[in-house]
Amino acid sequence: MARILLTGGAGFIGSHTAAVLLERGYDVVLLDDFSNAARDVPERLRRVTGVSLPLIEADIRDEAAMAAALAAFPVDAVIHFAAKKAVGESEADPLSYYDSNIVGTVRLLTAMHRAGVDRIVFSSSATVYGEPDVCPITEAAALRVTNVYGRTKLVMEGMITDLVRTGTLKAAAILRYFNPVGAHPSGLIGEDPRGVPANLMPYLCQVAEGRHPHLNVFGDDYPTHDGSGVRDFIHIMDLAEAHEAALRRVLARDGDFTVNLGTGTGYSVLDMVKAFASATGVKVPYEIVPRRPGDVAACYADPTMAANLLGWHATRGIETMCRDAWRWQSKVALTNQAP
Ligand code: NAD
Ligand code: WQD
Repeated sequence: MARILLTGGAGFIGSHTAAVLLERGYDVVLLDDFSNAARDVPERLRRVTGVSLPLIEADIRDEAAMAAALAAFPVDAVIHFAAKKAVGESEADPLSYYDSNIVGTVRLLTAMHRAGVDRIVFSSSATVYGEPDVCPITEAAALRVTNVYGRTKLVMEGMITDLVRTGTLKAAAILRYFNPVGAHPSGLIGEDPRGVPANLMPYLCQVAEGRHPHLNVFGDDYPTHDGSGVRDFIHIMDLAEAHEAALRRVLARDGDFTVNLGTGTGYSVLDMVKAFASATGVKVPYEIVPRRPGDVAACYADPTMAANLLGWHATRGIETMCRDAWRWQSKVALTNQAP
């Protein structure tokens, strides 16, 4: 079976992808600097999968460390998750985003090239579409980034496709994620953001836990079915399975492809509040507050390309997303103790 290096493998999406790859028999090597991940994630993964996987603690910007990692663990491909990902922080400190995301990716790609590793799956984002003209959004939609974080994703996408065009890489998958939420059904791994979460689901879960008095719903005057913002929430396990499907294609065929990873259905913030109550029995208090600057009314994917190229589509609905997020949050994140 192929051996795969996961940069940022201890993070939210990386750890769930590691679980799916391990369950499907891949040899997985995790690499992370733990700048945004708990140190016990590898141990939790071992409990989920029964596999003790190699872990390299390193910063992707450290090219010598990347070279050493690839020498110690010859791999067939890399899945590159490691990045800084907070939109607000990227606007406040753009240079650190250029450094972590763009410089880090240059160093990783250089080390891969020198080691002869020429297949990559890359974490991009629906943020590259900015304010879409129409929903659902196809991969052919205009790319118009509206923040520094999005800019770094677009630059990295371009670098990777250039490397395939020039023959420096043999194959690449550019995966544009919509809004990943939920957690592994075991409740042992999930999303555990540091500080006050900016994203809806982790904040909603923390309100349910009693850590905040209510959820602020940013705007009820959008041109959507109930006035609140509409997004394409995708269960993290569906997203993780999509990585395995993309990886299979990247290992089997040369060339690059770019696909949206979403469900194709938009749900509103208020839909999520209702689904959370019906899935968990916990009614989350909320208040309508003004729109959050920079937010778009609606953003959801046309996932047809992923279905056609990868034979993948999302299968889990919003109640499962809420139930699994809550299982993780109430069991683990609250006490920060493994159950
Ligand atoms: P995350 O922060 O949970 O995971 C990223 C991991 O990378 C963390 O474990 C962090 O410690 C590590 N990391 C960061 N900088 C590093 C560096 N310089 N060297 C080594 N490790 C480093 O985030 P996530 O939600 O799992 O996101 C993974 C990828 O998916 C990112 O590239 C992100 O931009 C992208 N993405 C995320 C979302 C989302 O909503 N979560 C949406 C679209 C795209
Ligand atoms: C979803 C909806 C908010 C919090 C962001 C990044 C994007 C991608 C995913 C990485 C919106 C509303 C939120 C709250 C609320 N990340 N909301 N109260 O903004 O769609 O996307 O994460 O690539 O780049 O921009 O996600 O979860 O922040 O917001 O009402 O406390 O929930 O206004 O309508 P977003 P989100």
